[in-house]
Amino acid sequence: MWKDGFGRRARKLRISVTDRCNLRCVYCMPAQPEWLPKSGLLTFEELARVARVAAKAGVERFRITGGEPLLRRGLPEFIVILRSIPGARSIAMTTNGLLLPEFAAALRDAGLDRVTVSLDSLDRDRARALTRRDSRDGTLAGIEAARAAGFSGPALKINAVAMRGVNDAEISQLAGWARDEGLSLRFIEFMPLEGDRIWSRDMLVPAEEIVSRIAKDYPLEPGVREPGETCERFAYRDGRGEVGVIASVTRAFCGDCDRIRLTADGGFRTCLFATEARDLRGPLRSGASDEELAALMGSAVRLKGPGHLVASPAFKRPDRAMNAIGG
Ligand code: 5AD
Ligand code: SF4
Repeated sequence: MWKDGFGRRARKLRISVTDRCNLRCVYCMPAQPEWLPKSGLLTFEELARVARVAAKAGVERFRITGGEPLLRRGLPEFIVILRSIPGARSIAMTTNGLLLPEFAAALRDAGLDRVTVSLDSLDRDRARALTRRDSRDGTLAGIEAARAAGFSGPALKINAVAMRGVNDAEISQLAGWARDEGLSLRFIEFMPLEGDRIWSRDMLVPAEEIVSRIAKDYPLEPGVREPGETCERFAYRDGRGEVGVIASVTRAFCGDCDRIRLTADGGFRTCLFATEARDLRGPLRSGASDEELAALMGSAVRLKGPGHLVASPAFKRPDRAMNAIGG
């Protein structure tokens, strides 16, 4: 079991399989990204080896992220490998949905348990401005494809990053749309992890404001957050589903964080806001044993800090943008 100095256990591993993406969301990456060299990316075998070692140390849940994970060829086969790991209780994936029409059925067959699709606006022009590509219709088609493949209820979620002056006027409308569609939507506070340094405190829409905007049109029950979850869930008073907010900045949930991360190039990070990574690729490629890998990861977990300082002047940005860390 891996525990940090604050008594938090590592239970969930996020695995980024690529930093590449077919969109360029302004909150995630620069307009002109420099990709990690292909030769530096871990193979599926290497990624799975890390996952296996983590599972032996008590990690139970895996989330595949990117970049856009579906750009990595053979992803369903990778899911089959993850599925075969003893102790892997659930496997989820975050995607922009564009390639789901092609892959949703194969992902389901491979044993993927849950999909989260990012959709920040229903307005075509606004979605184009946000993702720097004409993405809206493709994302909506991806959501449909996921449903058709059998991802429904808690197995299908929508993420929307709320940004002041960008999509904040649409918050309630997005919530209404998700309600009508029977989809579980979560709004995420904009975090300073983008590529082109546009983040400012003013651009962040606090969770409290997100909730009150929704509640004005659709009354809500007070929210709850389960330990280890990032999302505070609010039920609609009329019984028609729920909506979530991920208050990463204004109500940070570092205190019970149980997440660790593996970047596509083999960097092990114990926090989304870590300013450096523990390299696993070197050891993986120079014959390290499972025990040695476990010791490396276990010692990194022990050094995990108490939490991020986004809200404080002492905050230092991570050394990479979100697409190269993994969401
Ligand atoms: N702030 C908040 N959420 C972000 N995401 C990406 N970048 C940011 C950011 N700067 C979210 C996207 C996507 C997931 C991978 O991470 O909504 O769903
Ligand atoms: Fe691509 Fe997701 Fe980043 Fe958007 S948020 S650029 S879809 S990785």
